[in-house]
Amino acid sequence: MTVVRVVCPGSFDPVTLGHVDVVRRAAALFDEVVVAVGTNPSKSQLFTPDERLDLLRRTVGEIDGVRVEGFSGLLVTWCAEQGVTAVVKGLRGAKDYDYEEPMAHMNAHLTGLDTVLLPTDPRWSFVSSSLVKEVARGGGDVSALVPPVVLDALRARL
Ligand code: PNS
Repeated sequence: MTVVRVVCPGSFDPVTLGHVDVVRRAAALFDEVVVAVGTNPSKSQLFTPDERLDLLRRTVGEIDGVRVEGFSGLLVTWCAEQGVTAVVKGLRGAKDYDYEEPMAHMNAHLTGLDTVLLPTDPRWSFVSSSLVKEVARGGGDVSALVPPVVLDALRARL
């Protein structure tokens, strides 16, 4: 039997309920999902890579067929080493599409790695890690938008 292994890559700084929803849906569609925690150099990070990994493991690590790993370097190289056949990402709207499209084409150009874009559940269409951090920094309530462990981590950090 062929196992279809996909990757949900991201910086996850921090993981939100929007991310959790995409990982859950990917796990329902594919045999194995690797959540790959990377660093986007164009974004400033609130949590270290180890902290982001830990928060993800505590939120999606128990879902059947899901494991959480860190990665560095090119995503396509890491996917080839891990036997990953496709990237799965959530799509909140046209702006996300404009961001994802060139990366999807570049990854396909480099190694043939394909990308599957899942429309975000409308409940989370306005949720991003960046906005969550901004609102939390300002003392706003993000408790309905992030897992409880992330809420605790945000409170401790800010
Ligand atoms: O949370 P983000 O910012 O959407 O995560 C982006 C990330 C880390 C998944 C992306 O920047 C990435 O894949 N980085 C690895 C380096 C790489 O492969 N760059 C070329 C992309 S075509």
